[in-house]
Amino acid sequence: MKPIIPVTRPQLPSLASLMPLLEQIWDSRQLTNGGPLHQRFEQALADYLGVEHLSLFANGTLALMAALRAHTDRDTRGRDQVITTPYSFVATAHAVRWNQLTPVFVDIDPVTLNLDPSCVEAAITERTTAILAVHCYGRRCDTAALQALADHYQLRLIYDAAHAFAIRDAGGSLLRHGDCSVLSLHATKVFNTFEGGAIVSTSAAAKQQIDRLRNFGFVDETRVASVGINAKMPEFNAAIGLLQLPAIDQALAARARVAAAYRQALATFDGLEPLLPLAGQNENNGYFPIRVGAAFPLSRDALYEHLRAQGIHARRYFYPLICNLEAYRTGAGSRHPLPNANLIAEQVLCLPIYPDLAADDFERVIAALGTAHASHRNARPCLIPDPSDAR
Ligand SMILES: Cc1ncc(COP(=O)(O)O)c(C=O)c1O
Repeated sequence: MKPIIPVTRPQLPSLASLMPLLEQIWDSRQLTNGGPLHQRFEQALADYLGVEHLSLFANGTLALMAALRAHTDRDTRGRDQVITTPYSFVATAHAVRWNQLTPVFVDIDPVTLNLDPSCVEAAITERTTAILAVHCYGRRCDTAALQALADHYQLRLIYDAAHAFAIRDAGGSLLRHGDCSVLSLHATKVFNTFEGGAIVSTSAAAKQQIDRLRNFGFVDETRVASVGINAKMPEFNAAIGLLQLPAIDQALAARARVAAAYRQALATFDGLEPLLPLAGQNENNGYFPIRVGAAFPLSRDALYEHLRAQGIHARRYFYPLICNLEAYRTGAGSRHPLPNANLIAEQVLCLPIYPDLAADDFERVIAALGTAHASHRNARPCLIPDPSDAR
């Protein structure tokens, strides 16, 4: 059996480069609570991303929870619903629920795969407090339309930007939109600190509120002004982040080369459609999603199994839809039609992509897609009668 090809593989700094930073931590005995490496990495990451107000977090999920805590106003207005997408990683909705808020899932746009603003508008009620949008696979949401809705209906707009590291649109970093944006720096992401996350705020005052929330709500040694949480990034993870930053541009370039090679190779397979890049933004190629269409002889799930049998661990991100997971099926949120989300969740398969994906492994993936195509060409019943049969 050949070695497994995972869907992603984390980028790591050299152990030799880590040792001096570990020695600094050991010398200072400052392991967490905003130590010197944390301070350096927070500033360096903000500079790299081209944003002003960034707060590091222990992970993206805690960051999402804090973002919703800071930017929803259930306490003052009694509103408890957050309109969000069912086509995302489950942490998006979990963060809503952990805030005692109710996720309301609405349909996605079939091109961006993100919240369809017209479906968002149709779901707004007097109970709506916020929109939680996801830039899925780093594809930008319709930020202008969502902001217009948020302004018109006086709603908060929070972006789960876990996939949107280093994405820019015409105006600069994509992370500047809405009330805040949340990054994940998890091992599976384009840029990782093992575990980690960040919130990009729009003002120094908003950042201060977030910084307090991630540290139990402490204002100073004796004052706790809000019900915060412990979501601080430790010094070790900040050290990893500092070492990863100088290598990120090379990693992004390597991912772009893999993505380009996939696009070229897949052009020969009818029915396997890579998502088209969106105009007006760059790509980070954190994922390589393809749609397995009717013209391909295998269904998406059969192709997934075919690849799996050969040690190729493509993933069905995001299937099932969050609203169909056991924890959400019986939720109190109102049900909205989700035709696009259902179709996309049945069709998308994310192929392996990472900066050091070896050429041999890439060829193995393409060869496996080829055998799936060739050996099952007649597997799906042909619904169009062959004229030569009409004798
Ligand atoms: C869309 C999305 N939101 C949130 C998260 C949660 O981030 P973390 O794993 O850093 O907690 C992830 C990934 O893990 C994600 O893909």
